[in-house]
Amino acid sequence: MNNRHPDIQHAAALLRQGKLVAIPSETVYGLAADAKNIHAIAKIYAAKGRPSTNPLIIHLSNVSAITDWAINIPKAAYQLAERFWPGPLTLILPKHPSVPDCVTGNQNTVGLRIPNHPVTLSLLEEFNGGLAAPSANRFGRISPTTTAHVREELKDAVDYILEGGPCSVGIESTIVSLASESPVILRLGAIQACDIEAILGKKVPFQSKEKSEIIVPGTNSIHYAPEKHLYLLDKHMLTERLAKSLAQKKQVSVLSFSEKPLLFGEQHGDWIQADPSPIAYATKLYATLRMLDNSKGDCILVEIPPNSTDWFAIRDRLQRAACPK
Ligand code: TXA
Ligand code: MG
Repeated sequence: MNNRHPDIQHAAALLRQGKLVAIPSETVYGLAADAKNIHAIAKIYAAKGRPSTNPLIIHLSNVSAITDWAINIPKAAYQLAERFWPGPLTLILPKHPSVPDCVTGNQNTVGLRIPNHPVTLSLLEEFNGGLAAPSANRFGRISPTTTAHVREELKDAVDYILEGGPCSVGIESTIVSLASESPVILRLGAIQACDIEAILGKKVPFQSKEKSEIIVPGTNSIHYAPEKHLYLLDKHMLTERLAKSLAQKKQVSVLSFSEKPLLFGEQHGDWIQADPSPIAYATKLYATLRMLDNSKGDCILVEIPPNSTDWFAIRDRLQRAACPK
C-alpha cells in the first residue's frame, strides 16, 4: 500500500505522463519534468522561454543515484555530497551517456542536486527517478519563492503546482564544478566558498562568466530582473537619488538598511527596511523585489549590502537585477 500524500502521488503520476510540475525546494521553486523524457524537457524550455543551450539541474533523492547520471566521479563529489546534501549545492560532473543531451544543453557535463525539502524528497522517492528542474520563472525574471509567484510567472504553462510553503533559503543553490582538474564555483549561493574549501582542503575560486568557457545562464549579466529599473546604491548615493526623485515629485520604492525617515510619507512611495542578517535577507529577497516591482514607485532604489563574504551571493543577485551603470 502506498501511503504517500495524494498530492505527491498525483504529481508523480503527471510527471510519468511527461507533464510539468512546479516543485518546492529550500532555495527556490523549480519547474520539474522527467529528466529522461525529451518531450517533457522540451516543454520546460518552452514554458520558460529559455534558450535550449542552457543546461538544467537534475534533482535526485539519494547520493547512490549519482552513478546513473554522472561518470568519473571524483572523491570530492562524495565529500561535498556527504556534508551538504540534501541542501543548496549543485555539483557539475562529467555526464553519463544515458542523460539526454537536451537536458545538459549539449554539454558533456551534468548538474546534480539533492534538494532539502520534505515534499520534494517524498515526490522524488515516489517518482523513483531524476527530475530536471530549473527555477520556475520565465527566462530572465525573478525566481519564485512561493506557489503564488509560480502562478504569476507561468500561468497555464505548468500542469500542477505542488505546495511546499515559502522557500527557506530564498536564493538559488551554490554551483561547484568538479568536471575539470580543479574545482571551481560557478554560482554563489547560501553555501559559501569557505564552506566548500573547508571540506576540500584547498582554495576553490569563483569563476566569473567572463573567464569561463562553461555556459552558466544564471550568470548572464541581466538576470533575476524586475520590470522596473533597479538602482543599487551606497547609502550616500541613495540619499542623493531619493532627494532628487522627491524634488521631481516622483514616487520611489526603497530597500534600505536604515529606518524609514520621518519625512518619507506614503505619498513618496514604499520603504522597506532590510534585514541586517544575510540569511534572513536572502530568504525574503525575491519576494521583496517582486513587491517593490508591483508597488507604486517609478523605480527601485536598493542600498547595496556590505562587501563581505556572507553577503556575496546576495550582492551578486542584486547586481544582476540592477540597471547597468
Ligand atoms: O537552487 C537551484 O539550483 C534551483 C532549484 C530549483 O534547484 N534551480 C535553479 O535552476 O536555479 P536554474 O536552471 O534556474 O539554474 C541552474 C543553473 C544555470 O545557471 C545552469 O546554467 C547551471 O545551473 N547548470 C546546470 N547544468 C550545468 C552544467 N552541466 N554546466 C554548467 N552549468 C550548469
Ligand atoms: Mg533560474
